[in-house]
Amino acid sequence: MTEQTSKPWAGRFTEPTDAFVEAFTASVGFDQRLFRHDIAGSKAHAQMLAHVGVLSEAECQQINNGLDQVLAEIESGQFQWSVSLEDVHMNLEARLTALIGDAGKKLHTGRSRNDQVATDIRLYLRDEIDSIQVELKRLQTALIDLAEREHDAIMPGFTHLQVAQPVTFGHHMLAWFEMLVRDAQRLADCRKRVNIMPLGAAALAGTSYPIEREYTAKLLGFDGVSENSLDAVSDRDFAIEFCAAAALLMTHLSRFSEELILWASAQFDFVDIPDSFCTGSSIMPQKKNPDVPELVRGKTGRVNGHLVSLLTLMKGQPLAYNKDNQEDKEPLFDVIDTLRGSLKVYADMMASLLIKRDNMERAALQGFSTATDLADYLVRKGVPFRDAHEVVGKAVRLGVETSRDLAEMDLAELQKFSDVISEDVFEVLTLQGSVSARNHIGGTAPAQVKAAAARARSRLM
Ligand code: ARG
Repeated sequence: MTEQTSKPWAGRFTEPTDAFVEAFTASVGFDQRLFRHDIAGSKAHAQMLAHVGVLSEAECQQINNGLDQVLAEIESGQFQWSVSLEDVHMNLEARLTALIGDAGKKLHTGRSRNDQVATDIRLYLRDEIDSIQVELKRLQTALIDLAEREHDAIMPGFTHLQVAQPVTFGHHMLAWFEMLVRDAQRLADCRKRVNIMPLGAAALAGTSYPIEREYTAKLLGFDGVSENSLDAVSDRDFAIEFCAAAALLMTHLSRFSEELILWASAQFDFVDIPDSFCTGSSIMPQKKNPDVPELVRGKTGRVNGHLVSLLTLMKGQPLAYNKDNQEDKEPLFDVIDTLRGSLKVYADMMASLLIKRDNMERAALQGFSTATDLADYLVRKGVPFRDAHEVVGKAVRLGVETSRDLAEMDLAELQKFSDVISEDVFEVLTLQGSVSARNHIGGTAPAQVKAAAARARSRLM
């Protein structure tokens, strides 16, 4: 970055800014990523000023062309960013003025960097939410595809990470899908509050020029204008809300990650994560590590941390704008980058995940996963549930002692526990019988999973 000394606000100052303070207070190193939205906001503001007669049409045209040139310079890497011009807003305005002269100096009429920056972040975040939703939908689609394909693959379902009851793999995928549906809804809901225009609030109290805020809002695609100027320039709740939605989404991805890491281990061996998503070890030749899910699990920590940063940033601030708010950007940007990256890699990884159906089914045969089915069978034959529970518990104990599953005992043995048991018991003791019996909306039966996957596809936003 080159040094440039003329600060737009230098009029009342007699001494130059201390060199370290200049660097310490500057945000251009990180807020320059707002340049596109800053330019779009400036163009709309200039057009509105011309519309109400504060700028001439010719001045507006000059500003437009000048901003196009600034944009081209930035995009081609020729733009000289200057730390002494503090932030993206003053850098762009200074360059515009250098290019077009007096008309450039008129652009800031009726606005302040306070409403400008709030507008920029909202425009930027709105676009980012839209592109995050695209990645999220890709991941959801990959889960639905897996659920459809594996609607009848049987795996052990766990509670307390102990084998509980058999479930279908497709059902398990759709559980993840449901979490992501709520995440998409949260983001869409947050977007409504992001898409409100602060411009016109100026520094804090509004402006004495005859501005038409609705006009600018329409040009920028905002759904409405902020009702209160003090609120508009000061609160960052929309960014906090986004980070909260992101933290929940990352928390969901982190849970998926934990499962994938377990499933890819030699002990579970339920799935194979393709080589392209794994790395090896520099010392242990046999290793293939599930780095992608591990990193996503790890990155969840920093997203959660950024949420707390922003909450803490906000909590002590009196109305209206305070420079503290400049600290909103790095956490917010990092949340956006981390979330979008995590979703992208997850969508790709899930689309190429290999499922080891035989291993999952074998694992489901361990741990007496059909014990509940035997209890339900006894209940159907008139045994009260609590008694049935006790009977099956005893049968399980025999199984543990003799290292056999319930289905491996013969009829006479089972009948010692209850005389209502007959030959038809062996149907309910199979994995297929167990999952197929859970045949209602939200249940794990293959037919239900297939139908749920079809509904899921039509529910995609
Ligand atoms: N870079 C500043 C920020 O991000 C822009 C607003 C500065 N306003 C001011 N009055 N110093 O918040």
